[in-house]
Amino acid sequence: MRKIAIALTKGGVGKTTTAVNLAAALALAGKRVLLVDVDTQGQAGRSLGMEPEIGLAELVMGDVEPEDALIEARPNLWLLGGGDGLAGLKRMIARKDFGGERTLREALAPLDGRFDYVLLDTAPGWDVLAVNALFYADEILTPVSLEILTLQGLQGFLGKIQAIQAYHPDLILRYVTPTFYDRRVKKSDEIIEQLKTYFPDQLTHPVRYSVRLSEAPGYGQTIFEYAPKSTGVFDYTVISKIVMKHE
Ligand SMILES: Nc1ncnc2c1ncn2[C@@H]1O[C@H](COP(=O)(O)OP(=O)(O)OP(=O)(O)O)[C@@H](O)[C@H]1O
Ligand SMILES: [Mg+2]
Repeated sequence: MRKIAIALTKGGVGKTTTAVNLAAALALAGKRVLLVDVDTQGQAGRSLGMEPEIGLAELVMGDVEPEDALIEARPNLWLLGGGDGLAGLKRMIARKDFGGERTLREALAPLDGRFDYVLLDTAPGWDVLAVNALFYADEILTPVSLEILTLQGLQGFLGKIQAIQAYHPDLILRYVTPTFYDRRVKKSDEIIEQLKTYFPDQLTHPVRYSVRLSEAPGYGQTIFEYAPKSTGVFDYTVISKIVMKHE
């Protein structure tokens, strides 16, 4: 079972869009996928048209059994919802004397082997939940917005990953996925070239800028449902194949 955190400390780079649509692509390829929304914004669930009352927070705090927290959002695609409830979970973790960073890992252990993929949509910033998500995951996919990200911004995040690797050596930055790619913008290609130099093994096919991708969550639909012929479908399908190649 592969556990992949979609993460970057910077906001608005396409983490949720990537988590939801990569999860959908893998599910359509016949994989059993769990999407975990580790964000108080609850955007991953909403992008699938759901705002579950019970989700990750209730499961981790031991209030419910996994069966009651997991929602089958689509064929092969389950959701463990995030949202406001995670604020309480953060407080609970913060109160622990030790081992707080492994709270998620311990609570989700019973799910081991039940899925082919667990994708975690993480929040921007760096807090106990972000750290918990990275202690649970074995792989990181970092979306790099070609519009707003500087390589310096990425550098800071890499330092944080290294700090976690000291305690969780299995964790690797596996994929760097350029987002908001626009061929007409010269800067886009320049940044991709730079990324190629720094991340020759991690760099994936990019996700092109697409209005359809930004519209789909408003309808509670994945890009595969909302605009099946769009570039987003093509791009996320290619990325899913890259990810599946490493099985
Ligand atoms: N390739 C794309 N083309 C156009 N719009 C996009 C693309 N990817 C994402 N968007 C839009 O950009 C905005 C930010 O994307 P998204 O919510 O996925 O980022 P995020 O990293 O999860 O943000 P946050 O850090 O707040 O959680 C959203 O409105 C989304 O619909
Ligand atoms: Mg998000």
